[in-house]
Amino acid sequence: MAGATSLVGHAFSAAPRYRTAPLPPAGADILDIALTAKLRPQQLLPAPAKPTPVLSYGDGPAVIRMKQGQWLRATLNNELAEHTTVHWHGIRLPNGMDGVPYLTQDPVLPGQSFTYAFQPPDPGTFFFHPHCDTITQLGQGLAGVLIIEGDETRPFDADLVCAYRDWRVNDDGSFGALTTPKGAGTAGTFGTFQTVNDRHQPVFKVPANGDIRVRFLNVDMTRLVDLGLDGAEGWMIATDGNALEPTKLETWRMGPAMRLDLTFRAPKSGSVKLMNYYAAEPIVLATFEAEGAPLDRPAFEPAPLKTPRIPEPKPQGDTDFTLRLSAASSPSPLPADLKLPNGEILPLADSLCLTQNTFWAMNGQTWPSMDEGRLPPPLAQFARGRTVVMEIVNATPHPHPIHMHGNTFKVVSSNKGKVLPHFADTVLVAPKERVKVAFVADNPGAWMLHCHIIEHQETGMMGYVEVA
Ligand code: C2O
Ligand code: CU
Repeated sequence: MAGATSLVGHAFSAAPRYRTAPLPPAGADILDIALTAKLRPQQLLPAPAKPTPVLSYGDGPAVIRMKQGQWLRATLNNELAEHTTVHWHGIRLPNGMDGVPYLTQDPVLPGQSFTYAFQPPDPGTFFFHPHCDTITQLGQGLAGVLIIEGDETRPFDADLVCAYRDWRVNDDGSFGALTTPKGAGTAGTFGTFQTVNDRHQPVFKVPANGDIRVRFLNVDMTRLVDLGLDGAEGWMIATDGNALEPTKLETWRMGPAMRLDLTFRAPKSGSVKLMNYYAAEPIVLATFEAEGAPLDRPAFEPAPLKTPRIPEPKPQGDTDFTLRLSAASSPSPLPADLKLPNGEILPLADSLCLTQNTFWAMNGQTWPSMDEGRLPPPLAQFARGRTVVMEIVNATPHPHPIHMHGNTFKVVSSNKGKVLPHFADTVLVAPKERVKVAFVADNPGAWMLHCHIIEHQETGMMGYVEVA
């Protein structure tokens, strides 16, 4: 097996690799939506706390539901004070729609708009979020859920979205520091107020004795969740939106950005709790309360979802690539200025997509910033159509959820023991762990590869690979 081309040590490439993307053909079934990113204060904490200065894409939690085969045409209007983009996390879309400033598109400046259009190829549970100054923008709430329907083999009696996050809010409702150097250099800066769909320990009514589908998304920037159910037997049916043969849920460890679809049979009366068992003291995330006359249903059998159409990687692979996660060799400050595409210079304090310090590296490279002309070379280049086996080696004392854009990989093995083979776009790699993931590199473009603990991403643990 040939090794991946190594480009370490090359000079920064001058030009970003913008890609164009096809427009919807005439007669296409298009879902048109507007996402207006702006400040919409929200009463997160109970009074007397003040409303929290939350950033959002619309009133209420943003959940887009569409059907497989439909096109999505989403116009982002930027009413923030700084530039932004939308990244469609987990979608195997054309590179030009991937929402990475400088790499796949120009950043969308305040007052400007940008229209994303693509046809999601896979059904499942996905989400979207900015890829600029992500600590601030995602940390203040900017994110939405994207559901592509069409994976069911039989209908569920309820289909619930549970988007988890942990807000860094003070008692008066204001935001605390979203990042600290200590947090960024270790496991991250943790929140203080945990919510599901922006509510603390919400109660969902579910049809008694019904078959319930829960789409759980960890949209937090930092927290790990050991997801479990208390009061019913849960079955995992999809990881990161990709169907899995129904597998009994004990607990499932999820880093930021990971999703899990699960199903359970609601009790005839009473309730079931969605739990986080990660901490010594288990935490109730949400409650599902049976309501109504019990539905007349045969004995519970978890309904499988349709088999995903992700290309199956060859077991042996064509290309081996090792991704080593480490601390940066020396923490370094970043350049003082940011040059915008229009030539304007912003001082660092106002600039976006920049970090104060670099603590982390991938293959010895630290992501320098995202300012135009300073894109580092890719970590690797893969020939289109080949199976890549990527071994992710964690040489740090902290877990890292590693996400690759535009591609879905299969998690195949770990030096720490048996893994449940499953398709994913984000894989959690524990300290001293070496995880192998494999994928067919069939989507051309420049694809980000980074830790989804956003403070790690923004302090160096980010890079990209090219598929050509
Ligand atoms: Cu949700 Cu670059 O990722
Ligand atoms: Cu990390």
